[in-house]
Amino acid sequence: MGTTKYSSDRNVLFCKTLLKLLLLAAVAHNVSGKTLKYKVLEEQRVGTVIARLKEDVAGILSKLPSSVSPRFRAMQRGSTPLLSVREEDGEISIATKIDREKLCEKNLNCTIEFDVITLPTEYLQLFHIQVEVLDINDNAPQFSRAIIPIEISESASVGTRFPLDSALDPDVGENALHTYSLTRNNFFKIDIRTRTDGAKYADLVVMRELDRETQSSYQLQLTASDSGVPPKSGSTLLKISISDSNDNSPAFDEQAYVVNLLENSPLGTLLVDLNATDPDEGNNGKIVYSFSSHVPPKILETFKINPDNGHITLIKKVDYETTSSYEIDVQAQDMGPNSIPGHCKIIIKVVDVNDNKPKININLMTQGKEEVAYISEASPVDTFIALVRVDDSDSGLNGEVVCRLHGHGHFRLQKTYENNYMILTNVSLDREKRSEYSLTVIAEDRGSPSLSTIKHFTVQVQDENDNPPRFEKSRYEIFQSENNSPGAYLTSVVATDPDLGSNGQVTYSIVDSQVQDSSISKYVTIDPSNGAVYALQSFDREKVGRLSFTVQARDGAGPASLSSNTTVLLTVLDKNDNPPIIVAPQLINHTAEVPLWRHAEPGHLVTIIKATDRDAGANSELTCSIVSGNDEGLFVIEPRRCELRTNGSVEASGREGFDLTILVQDRGASIRLSARAVLHISLRDYPESYSLNPSDMNNQSTLDVSMIIIISLGAICGVLLIVMVMFATRCSREQKDPRHSYNCRVAESTYQNHPKKPARQIHKGDITLVPTVNGTLPVRAHPRSPSASPAPESRQSHHSRQSLNSLVTISSNHVPENFALELAHATPPVEVKKVF
Ligand SMILES: *[C@@H]1O[C@H](CO)[C@@H](O)[C@H](O)[C@H]1NC(C)=O
Ligand SMILES: *[C@@H]1O[C@H](CO)[C@@H](O)[C@H](O)[C@H]1NC(C)=O
Ligand SMILES: *[C@@H]1O[C@H](CO)[C@@H](O)[C@H](O)[C@H]1NC(C)=O
Ligand SMILES: *[C@@H]1O[C@H](CO)[C@@H](O)[C@H](O)[C@H]1NC(C)=O
Ligand SMILES: *[C@@H]1O[C@H](CO)[C@@H](O)[C@H](O)[C@H]1NC(C)=O
Ligand SMILES: *[C@@H]1O[C@H](CO)[C@@H](O)[C@H](O)[C@H]1NC(C)=O
Repeated sequence: MGTTKYSSDRNVLFCKTLLKLLLLAAVAHNVSGKTLKYKVLEEQRVGTVIARLKEDVAGILSKLPSSVSPRFRAMQRGSTPLLSVREEDGEISIATKIDREKLCEKNLNCTIEFDVITLPTEYLQLFHIQVEVLDINDNAPQFSRAIIPIEISESASVGTRFPLDSALDPDVGENALHTYSLTRNNFFKIDIRTRTDGAKYADLVVMRELDRETQSSYQLQLTASDSGVPPKSGSTLLKISISDSNDNSPAFDEQAYVVNLLENSPLGTLLVDLNATDPDEGNNGKIVYSFSSHVPPKILETFKINPDNGHITLIKKVDYETTSSYEIDVQAQDMGPNSIPGHCKIIIKVVDVNDNKPKININLMTQGKEEVAYISEASPVDTFIALVRVDDSDSGLNGEVVCRLHGHGHFRLQKTYENNYMILTNVSLDREKRSEYSLTVIAEDRGSPSLSTIKHFTVQVQDENDNPPRFEKSRYEIFQSENNSPGAYLTSVVATDPDLGSNGQVTYSIVDSQVQDSSISKYVTIDPSNGAVYALQSFDREKVGRLSFTVQARDGAGPASLSSNTTVLLTVLDKNDNPPIIVAPQLINHTAEVPLWRHAEPGHLVTIIKATDRDAGANSELTCSIVSGNDEGLFVIEPRRCELRTNGSVEASGREGFDLTILVQDRGASIRLSARAVLHISLRDYPESYSLNPSDMNNQSTLDVSMIIIISLGAICGVLLIVMVMFATRCSREQKDPRHSYNCRVAESTYQNHPKKPARQIHKGDITLVPTVNGTLPVRAHPRSPSASPAPESRQSHHSRQSLNSLVTISSNHVPENFALELAHATPPVEVKKVF
């Protein structure tokens, strides 16, 4: 508690009382629930400490996690706060000098109420603070006039009363006006009375018959005093003059009239029609009505009395909430000389009607900007938004207020104590779904008809970085032709982030990875701001056909930024940028030496041109053709398989060699690339022996598989051959009728003359028995046998060659064309003739 300095004129008793009160203030606060009550004397100096919340609510605060150091914030009502609350420890002290009389007038219960919350809002505690302001006797009773003139007829009877002005003391309780006293005398006394509103006044009462001739005037001092410590008083002088008697005084039927007046009564309403009676005639009996001389100005401006007929009418609206009753002293006087007025009292009770709408006071957590509360979308359920207080100045049911909140189900209202509510979140909010709420508070009183007030305020949900950027696709597939210009635009990836501001600002980057031993950053780049992907170099499909890389999108929330990935799959499309390359037969200066057996039959396979093209698809599909050197049409070339065969007898041409120019061309759509080779074919006397090209030896691993097939098929064919020989032998033995004699031969041997006919495997069923005429084959003509009567050994070698030839052809179906065809430097088909 702060120390209070007393001015020296205050006596010891007063100091004791004050100390008692201060002590009371220190111990009387009551930490029950969340309402804290304190007391403070008015007129304390600024800075006087009333309470320290941190100590007073230590029990509640100790339940919070120890890491939280709560701060206190007052949710003040009104513009100039009388009390201030220190943030660190909740110290409540006086901010402005408090004058109880100004604050509460005559109201006995003078309390400053406000709320204090503790921050952070996650650990919000609400304390309702009530500080009762106690009165000190700082005002003395005062009369409005220093001198009160009174005229009394000498015929006034004993007991006649004259109401006197009342003194005013704005203090309350013991410090308020307590009593009146009058200078001692033998003729008058005062009778102290209390008005309906509690104010005290005095009636001057005549105690003894008055005689003007003995004493025509009196001066008496009227003193009003309170019972404060020390008491204070004020006085006025009564100047009483005694006049000659005339006759009868006007008199009212009743001493007092009570009138009920609805507070919403219109102006001009007749309150009462007064009838004073005076039996005199003429001027002495003519009555004039008026308010007593001491009626306060408030009454004079609210009511009017008609002097002739005594009608009291309303000239200003009354308000129950400001003044609930009036007491009017009225006098009636006749026009005769020395008249003695008759008095009466009109008590006007104002009746409450429901004329005040409830008032809504919304105290938002976020101060400064009116009507807008800010809340983070990360706030948990039950986060405090605002304090709401409703008031209705009507009384009874008219002043009972029901408060509701239209909060879209996302906010709710929670009552804290009478007429005070908190608005809390009822769900966790998501700014991306809804960023702003307009909340409506509805206050309705229970009068009939009831009045209601609505008040809106806005809750703005503040963004948190709770959404990572999201790509439109988890995978982008793009196609780009090779040989593009470096810097070519490839595609754009787009990621969106619904968060606000920098939380939603997406930047793109390519996650580093390796492509054929170099960084992806050598191939592609991305515009960080818009996700456009560009090529950094000219792509070569023959080197890198596919590129797969990860693009990362990251929002701009600093260290708390979120990211997501997408995969971009770039397929490089082929362009016809590689010419065919002839790899076999081996070219020297574009020329190859090819031997050819002079006696080769038409259809004899001379060589197979092997060429490669590094492009893909049609760009690598090769066709061969003879462009020159074949004027006699002695050679044909199969365009796809590039098998160069004889088309007639080379021997017959009588030449020793041929120079054929072969063109190998791909099938590129826009441009066809080609390679040329000159085949220098020289005729030899002996069939060329089968040999593997050295280049084929290089493909050892692939060759191995082929060789296995070849060898196994060779074995099968060998067995087949033996079967055929045995069959042929039996045929010759069983020969009875030459007409019915049969010759055995391999059925399939004609394909050599039809190069396009696909090769097939030789089955047992392919062996047919062909009838012979006189032991010779009827149809097939073989212009030139290799030898007229070949030796059995040489025939045997022909057989094996035949089978090998078949094998090679068959195997070409199973192995890549390019190298399988290389194997076939084949010999003409050999027929198995009748064996003797
Ligand atoms: C003043 O407060 C006391 C106790 O708090 C209560 O009993 C009394 O009715 C109140 N008086 C008025 C006029 O509000
Ligand atoms: C005065 O007299 C009038 C007319 O006779 C009557 O209506 C009225 O009620 C009387 N007033 C009082 C206060 O008695
Ligand atoms: C608060 O949420 C609960 C369910 O989560 C719902 O039943 C209730 O109606 C909500 N309250 C308000 C005031 O919307
Ligand atoms: C994106 O890729 C990078 C690199 O592979 C990885 O470190 C990161 O965790 C990924 N991010 C997501 C969200 O998958
Ligand atoms: C290649 O052939 C051309 C003409 O056909 C000839 O001029 C040149 O000398 C030859 N080069 C070699 C290395 O044989
Ligand atoms: C192949 O020979 C036949 C008959 O001799 C002939 O008609 C044909 O034109 C020749 N083919 C080529 C490509 O010279």
